[in-house]
Amino acid sequence: MIELDAVSVAVPASASTPAASPGAEPASARRRWGRADHGPPGEITILHPTTLSLTERSVAVIGANGSGKSTLARLLNGLVLPTRGYVRVHGLDTHDDGRAVRRMVGFVFSDAEAQLVMPTPREDVALSVRRTGVERSLRAERVEEVLGSVGLAHLADVSVHALSGGQKQLLALAGVLATEPRVLVCDEPTTLLDLRWRTHVTALLGRLEQQVVHVTHDLDAALLADRVLVVDHGRVVADGTPETSVAAYRDLMATRVGTTDEP
Ligand SMILES: Nc1ncnc2c1ncn2[C@@H]1O[C@H](COP(=O)(O)OP(=O)(O)O)[C@@H](O)[C@H]1O
Ligand SMILES: [Mg+2]
Repeated sequence: MIELDAVSVAVPASASTPAASPGAEPASARRRWGRADHGPPGEITILHPTTLSLTERSVAVIGANGSGKSTLARLLNGLVLPTRGYVRVHGLDTHDDGRAVRRMVGFVFSDAEAQLVMPTPREDVALSVRRTGVERSLRAERVEEVLGSVGLAHLADVSVHALSGGQKQLLALAGVLATEPRVLVCDEPTTLLDLRWRTHVTALLGRLEQQVVHVTHDLDAALLADRVLVVDHGRVVADGTPETSVAAYRDLMATRVGTTDEP
């Protein structure tokens, strides 16, 4: 259960986009909200007040580039803290209980490679398993189990560099699953993958028992979710069944096709 209670996120007008936000567009954000924003002067609101209660097993988040999807996703594990309002995950506040929230909420990025730190899949997953406090004698078995759950057991000892993009994303996912999160937030986990791997990773996310919040540009994947949020200009502008939300997003984007300005 994820709750956002009147959450907004503002950044100083002079803030430059951190390297951790690939594809972000600070200049256009300033142009968009700098003057129109009703927050205190000197602030740019990148997420306008948002109240949500996410209880569904799978929630997809769709929206244009720069609309605020990553900001929303990062709020859920405390990578971004609300400027105003509260985010709670299973009752824990991301501000007050950040460490506990991060233990509970796994996060997967688009760029799997950036998440892999060890030379082989086995060692990479072992590192995550060690962090969970699994008893030493049970660790090897647990590593095997996690690698098996994403279909990488046969590649456990190859060099991470020898893995394909799709296999790297599976390994990044395995590293997160090894920490036994209750919630998984995936920020465009399939954006860099080809169709085969996109479909494979999406299907795997669909089979997990954890609650999954999946930020994606893949509307076919969004249609498989229980609930779909559409983010636009830092607001959730549609929230409902996959069919209604995806249709609303298509309509919204149709009004912008042919324009090269950021809206
Ligand atoms: N730390 C930051 N400082 C300044 N602007 C930011 C920051 N983080 C995000 N933004 C801006 O907020 C907007 C939404 O960003 P983001 O949540 O990354 O969108 P999306 O993931 O949908 O592409 C973008 O225009 C981005 O430039
Ligand atoms: Mg993003």
